[in-house]
Amino acid sequence: MAGAAGRAFASPEEDRAAFIALYRAKFPGVPLEDYVDGALMLSSDAKKQFDSIMEFPPFQGDVDSGRNLWETPFRNGKTFAGCFANGGRGIAGNYPYYDSGSDKVVTFEMDINRCLRDNGEAEYKFNDKTTMGIITAYARTLSDGMRVDVRVEGPAALAKYEQGKKLYFTRIGQYNFSCASCHMVNAGKILRTEILSPTVGQTTHWPVFRGGDNLNTLHMRYRRCMEQMRASPFPAGGEELGNLEYFQSYLSNGLPMRASVYRK
Ligand code: HEC
Repeated sequence: MAGAAGRAFASPEEDRAAFIALYRAKFPGVPLEDYVDGALMLSSDAKKQFDSIMEFPPFQGDVDSGRNLWETPFRNGKTFAGCFANGGRGIAGNYPYYDSGSDKVVTFEMDINRCLRDNGEAEYKFNDKTTMGIITAYARTLSDGMRVDVRVEGPAALAKYEQGKKLYFTRIGQYNFSCASCHMVNAGKILRTEILSPTVGQTTHWPVFRGGDNLNTLHMRYRRCMEQMRASPFPAGGEELGNLEYFQSYLSNGLPMRASVYRK
């Protein structure tokens, strides 16, 4: 483990600085902004392919359906936009946040469901690509370009951050890997055919469309990585992955958001 990032008592800001210092040493000359591209930042060919696919995204239909869902009024005549500050524009980079009332980390998906509840509508299932998936695929694009600005303020919020951090550094599963084994220690190396992306930047662009049409949320990706670790994955939308997202998102503070992108 490298410097402050591996220490249990480092502050979130010390963690962020330590991660960035570690990656800067591994990837000299790569601008921090490029980290939002994940593994693509390390392959100019893959990045070229990405850019050309993103000119006419094959998944645009899903994003448009998400927009439709976002704009369709509830039975009471109100809409999702009414539940979010600024109609939902320029807010996604503030997620997740700590809510002291419920003593929970709140993700964007949780606030989508809160909005449905408050308006007397049925909640979406976290794993349902045709509702929760597509609505976040659209609604998060309303914050494209926004700089990630996740706050960890006060001991109760810090406790959640620490839980997420602990999960990140804990070796689990049959292979005895932690998230850090692949995305910190071995970032930039190739695992089978894939370049391992650095943790900084990993939360800025969700959902992604794998192969151009297969919508994957961040928590689905977490679960996939946990399966690859031969560990039993935590539920999407649950507290463990919410706290992990909180920790990871903090590390991406200052980076620009860009939702709904292509992944191989
Ligand atoms: C055995 C190695 C391995 C471990 C351990 C692992 N991952 Fe991954 N992860 C991958 C591979 C391979 C990919 C796909 C290539 C990439 O983008 O890094 C990936 C992708 C990701 C992505 C998507 C990056 C993007 O921009 O599309 C996230 C987020 C992620 N992992 C988080 C985690 C977290 C959190 C953990 C711990 C629970 C974890 N990973 C553990 C191998 C691993």
